[in-house]
Amino acid sequence: MSEPAPFIERLPDYQKCVHGMLERALPPASEPPRRLHEAMRYAVLNGGKRIRAILVIATGEALHADAECLERPACAVEFIHAYSLMHDDLPAMDDDDLRRGVPACHRAFGVATAILAGDALQTLAFETLADTPAPDAGELVRTLARSSGSRGMAGGQAVDLESVGRTLTLAQLERMHLQKTGALIRASVRLGALSAGARDPEVLDRLDEYARCIGLAFQIRDDVLDVESETETLGKRQGADLALGKPTYPSILGLDESRAHAHALHERASERLAPFGRDADFLRGLSEFIVSRVR
Ligand code: IPE
Ligand code: IPE
Ligand code: MG
Ligand code: MG
Ligand code: MG
Repeated sequence: MSEPAPFIERLPDYQKCVHGMLERALPPASEPPRRLHEAMRYAVLNGGKRIRAILVIATGEALHADAECLERPACAVEFIHAYSLMHDDLPAMDDDDLRRGVPACHRAFGVATAILAGDALQTLAFETLADTPAPDAGELVRTLARSSGSRGMAGGQAVDLESVGRTLTLAQLERMHLQKTGALIRASVRLGALSAGARDPEVLDRLDEYARCIGLAFQIRDDVLDVESETETLGKRQGADLALGKPTYPSILGLDESRAHAHALHERASERLAPFGRDADFLRGLSEFIVSRVR
């Protein structure tokens, strides 16, 4: 049997496949209210790395899930993610005008429409997930709800806003990052595993520890890129964290130590995958990509 292509060569195919799924799951732009549907499609379909949807699919594939059980959870996490970015960019939050290399949704459609499009994407996520053919849709809905609510992403965003201009301890910063970004990444892996029918606590715990490590590493890399990348590459304004006085890993640990910390998390994540052997190669590649990506 020939070797599967390395992660980085397979990534574009996964991204294309996710784009098609998202396009099918979104309301058509021709359906009224047109402007709202256009804004939802704009926020979701204008690129993005699709890491969360791909994590759902890759975890499911590592556990030999039926492909049709992965499509809806993959779309659902990506809808929550797109909504979180849209609201994150609003003037009342990070006040960013550039996202994925184009004007942020509120710059293109106005603040009120961006708020509503975020609201509608959030409910579309749960509607999409509830109709999954996988067993125990209730547990999937619970997983996504917990990860995106006040104990997950929304809670982390609240802490992020309260922390502007303050100095956090490393433990406080880690907790904030695990909530605002880590929670949805953890949910993506759990959704993939549950959709494959995995119920063995040993398997779920291993994958959860992998997800916890890459979730934290993901936001550390995001903080590092805000310092060292360029607006053109990032597709969002470089230096935004510093300008707003956000507590970040580089602001506390410095760039070198932040990078080293992210790489140590990648190593730990990879170790957790050992019992899955070659089936988890793509998940290993994803972890490495998360800490070495340039956007
Ligand atoms: C950016 O997420 C926001 C964070 C949670 C750090 P991504 O870097 O995954 O954004 P896209 O989807 O690729 O644009
Ligand atoms: C956002 O973190 C995390 C979310 C839950 C959206 P950031 O504010 O650092 O994300 P970017 O850098 O604007 O993408
Ligand atoms: Mg933010
Ligand atoms: Mg932001
Ligand atoms: Mg950021």
